[in-house]
Amino acid sequence: AAAEKGGFASFMDKEIHDQPQAVTDTLLGRSDAQGRLVLDDLRIDESVLRAVDKIIVIACGTAAYAGHVAKYAIEHWCRIPVEVELAHEFRYRDPIVNEKTLVVAISQSGETMDTLMAVRHAREQGAKVLSIVNTNGSTIPRESDAVLYTHAGPEIAVASTKAFLSQITAAYLLGLYLAQLRGNKFPDEITALLDELRDMPRKVQTVIERSEYVRATARSMSEADKVLFLGRHVGFPVALEGALKLKELAYIHAEGFAAGELKHGPIALIDAGQPVFVVVPSPRGRDHLHSKIVSNIQEIRARGARTLVIAEDGDDEVRRYADEIFWIPRAPSLLQPLLAVVPLQIFAMELATAKGLDVDQPRNLAKSVTVE
Ligand code: G6P
Repeated sequence: AAAEKGGFASFMDKEIHDQPQAVTDTLLGRSDAQGRLVLDDLRIDESVLRAVDKIIVIACGTAAYAGHVAKYAIEHWCRIPVEVELAHEFRYRDPIVNEKTLVVAISQSGETMDTLMAVRHAREQGAKVLSIVNTNGSTIPRESDAVLYTHAGPEIAVASTKAFLSQITAAYLLGLYLAQLRGNKFPDEITALLDELRDMPRKVQTVIERSEYVRATARSMSEADKVLFLGRHVGFPVALEGALKLKELAYIHAEGFAAGELKHGPIALIDAGQPVFVVVPSPRGRDHLHSKIVSNIQEIRARGARTLVIAEDGDDEVRRYADEIFWIPRAPSLLQPLLAVVPLQIFAMELATAKGLDVDQPRNLAKSVTVE
């Protein structure tokens, strides 16, 4: 087993380090000589894809958060409404699904029973189902109309890491492909976005190389009993994922919030010393999101929170309000989740390790939940 871990202390640590390669492999071989996206394994008629008027992403756990991230990108690029729903809720809610609905099922294992049942339910109502799956030949792709494999390689640790990055990458490829097919974007815009995506593995590598500070911070916080996570826009699902990782691995009560929601309730949780992670959007982004989150940080700090901030290189403004700061390389706003989640994964793993817990096999959890 030591050899399989490639010299790392755990499969999870190895899989975190595999992430640049996982993203590279998800992107591999997906454009032609002219730079146009080609998704060969996508066996749904182009005419059907052009007619799609709604996308519903179904998944569970970390895969659902990947879908949540993808919603922001696909709606922005394709102008198609995207809903994201937990598979077990979708299945029993009498959802509105028809031939013009594209259901996107995201699953690392391809065996999650809740997701599989939702796939069957969607197809019974006439929807096309495209699955984004890591495990070749698993059940969900066999029962889907089309599959986009993530090619991240086997993921052993129960808590998902590299699968998450590759699921976002694959969903982005799908979004760009739909934009290309439906003419929502000029070819050179798509090429530019693809080039940015291809540059992400190098940046993910940089985040991993800078991880010593987040590791040390995690070790110093092994007594923490509740941790909050805030984000906006694509940083919101990143916050949810950061909280999930901490629950799964370190058995700490952790919760993620949309930062805009703070004043509607969660701010009541803030008292002296409360650790709060904040995922800060790029100061170069649109919509003033950066200044909004800077004021959120000031609000919680005024109430005693200890702020652990994930920010883009060069963000001098937020530096003043951070108790701890974890820097990530600059990237287009929609691509930031691929970087921002990495320190959160490492934090959870390291804190759990400091508590003497088994990060590959957390209590009560299974890698693949094949019962309803
Ligand atoms: C289990 C795992 C999670 C995973 C979820 C969905 O709960 O512990 O890490 O995110 O299932 O699994 P899937 O294989 O469908 O992505």
